[in-house]
Amino acid sequence: MEESATLRIGSENYNFPLIKGTESEIAVDLRTLRSESSCITFDDGYGNTGSCESKVTFIDGEKGILRYRGYPIEQLAEKSNFLESAFALLYGELPSENQLNSFRKKISDNAGLRENMAKGLHSFAPDAHPMAVLSAMVNNLGTYHPEKSTNDRKRDLEAFDDTAALLISAIRTIAARDYRNRKGLAPIPSDPSLGYCADFLQMTFGDSNNPQPPPQKVCEALNLVFLLHADHEQNCSTSTCRMVASGGANVFASVSAAIGALWGPLHGGANMAVIKMLKDIHDSGDDGSRFIEDAKNGKKRLMGFGHRVYKNYDPRAKILNVACNDALEELGVSSPILDIARHLEEVALSDEYFIQRKLYPNVDFYSGILLEAIGFPLNMFTVIFAIGRLPGWLSHWKEIAESGSKIHRPRQVYQGATVRDYVSIEER
Ligand code: ACO
Repeated sequence: MEESATLRIGSENYNFPLIKGTESEIAVDLRTLRSESSCITFDDGYGNTGSCESKVTFIDGEKGILRYRGYPIEQLAEKSNFLESAFALLYGELPSENQLNSFRKKISDNAGLRENMAKGLHSFAPDAHPMAVLSAMVNNLGTYHPEKSTNDRKRDLEAFDDTAALLISAIRTIAARDYRNRKGLAPIPSDPSLGYCADFLQMTFGDSNNPQPPPQKVCEALNLVFLLHADHEQNCSTSTCRMVASGGANVFASVSAAIGALWGPLHGGANMAVIKMLKDIHDSGDDGSRFIEDAKNGKKRLMGFGHRVYKNYDPRAKILNVACNDALEELGVSSPILDIARHLEEVALSDEYFIQRKLYPNVDFYSGILLEAIGFPLNMFTVIFAIGRLPGWLSHWKEIAESGSKIHRPRQVYQGATVRDYVSIEER
């Protein structure tokens, strides 16, 4: 294959080198395009733009491949757990036993919130969205750790190991305490002996008078939800995190911005949309059959089906489907909503419309069902996504800070008014 690409603009030819990724992806390196030709590229939505070179996560949507640091998601889901996979994402390699133990210890040592910070959780409006609270509280956490949020890349990088452990731990405490505040329930302190997920479930739903370890299969399923969401390369929130980091902002500010990006319904909100859809179907007295017909006629969208990147099968959905079944069985939940979900899944998987268009259930279909069954309120689903995605954001913050990358500053094609004279207010 040619090592360069030629672009003809008007009568001029310009040559650009190619960059080849380790998985054979080819990019045309256009960094000198503007200085050589005075032209820029236009790629609304960045669907054809490589914004960086990254070593964190590989996705091949056509083949249904997802790998963190080269490790297939199927192997991580079967043999690893959220914290071990988080370590691999952050540091590039699976940890030794000692490394994993000290990583775990650092995380459990950081589960508590300083008193003033915990009080700050009461300063939000009673019906504040949990994602607004989470984003603000993550930035707030940084203010309690000025030595970790200096906006001096070198110093923030030196503190990175502690910062990452602090955030991975505190994010679930913030989420759990915010949930209990809204219910008027007293906080439950962290119990590190339970493990990351069980401790989070206990801090959220536990009965302080009668502490019971959460059901094993539910902890395993939540652990999978976190693991499967831990990174997904240059998505909207991760790109936001990298963008903010490129300006030299500290980890807390970059993650806080990423949480804001994830909040959007087109990004982190799809699992909520699944449950809303199922409830609407139920309330309308349908068993799902009418909705399927409406989806085929283009009147409705079957939420939780299809994916912009995965045109084969979302590999995360396959894994979560099984765990979701196990957890539902252990929880002993049965509800008409779940019956509708199963019916939709069954019909859509055997219907030509969905088969032809390769519309399979995506990870949001099963995470929505699972989170609903565990008892998370709908507006907390995206918070769970954020807890899972945090190691990815942190890994990308570290990657960009270590790379010394320059500030991200896209250009635009200006389509506004051309130059005109100021008109005084009396003459307008
Ligand atoms: N229900 C019914 N029909 C669908 C659906 C769906 N969920 N998704 C796509 N189609 C149809 C389209 O109508 C189109 O049909 P046509 O060829 O007859 O016109 C065809 O399938 C291709 O659809 P596109 O919109 O071009 O597919 P695209 O890749 O752009 O969209 C998307 C992907 C946005 C995820 C879409 O499938 C969708 O809206 N799904 C439901 C929402 C959802 O679950 N989002 C979560 C994605 S996962 C994540 O973000 C973690």
